[in-house]
Amino acid sequence: MTYEQLSLTITVEDIKSKLRLSISPRRYKHSENVTEVAVKLAKKYGADTNKATIAGFLHDCAKGKSTKELLELSEKFNIHVDEYKKLHPELLHDEIGACIAKTDYGIEDEEILSAIRYHTMGRENMSLLEKIIFIADYIEPGRNFPGVEEIRKLAFDDLDKSILQALDTTLIYLIKIGAIIHPDTIKTRNYFISVAMQS
Ligand SMILES: [Fe+2]
Ligand SMILES: [Fe+2]
Repeated sequence: MTYEQLSLTITVEDIKSKLRLSISPRRYKHSENVTEVAVKLAKKYGADTNKATIAGFLHDCAKGKSTKELLELSEKFNIHVDEYKKLHPELLHDEIGACIAKTDYGIEDEEILSAIRYHTMGRENMSLLEKIIFIADYIEPGRNFPGVEEIRKLAFDDLDKSILQALDTTLIYLIKIGAIIHPDTIKTRNYFISVAMQS
């Protein structure tokens, strides 16, 4: 699929320029890195590279906003703020990001929007593009934590297994630091365990 077929109202170059003005240089670099990995994975698994590019660039377009802004935007976009998200409003950046991608960047493609919406906690029955953005966010070259190298390799061998390992690593870390775990992350992990059991 070409960019024309996505019927964008702005060009990808304009998306990048606009994004550069709204997030920090560090986060912009991260988005560039995520896009680079997402495109490689899209080629490997036969997903649309143009969609991977747009989702990669825009996945964190709502990150770095203040708690006040996130809560205001949730109200504006009619996003449900559950008890966990009330405690950790940064968890709202994925859903708000999908809304901003639509309203501010004119992205109408549902596949791209849901890849942005589910990039943090994933969900059951994730689409190929959702999986690609989720794991690209996790393994982009700027990431540096114990175990990342193994997940980086695994992502190109077995996408589902790499997501399960990423979720396990995150959950173990969250337990270690005594953080609250959003039930959606557990649901996603259970889904990928059931996938692994069937394969
Ligand atoms: Fe994010
Ligand atoms: Fe990210």
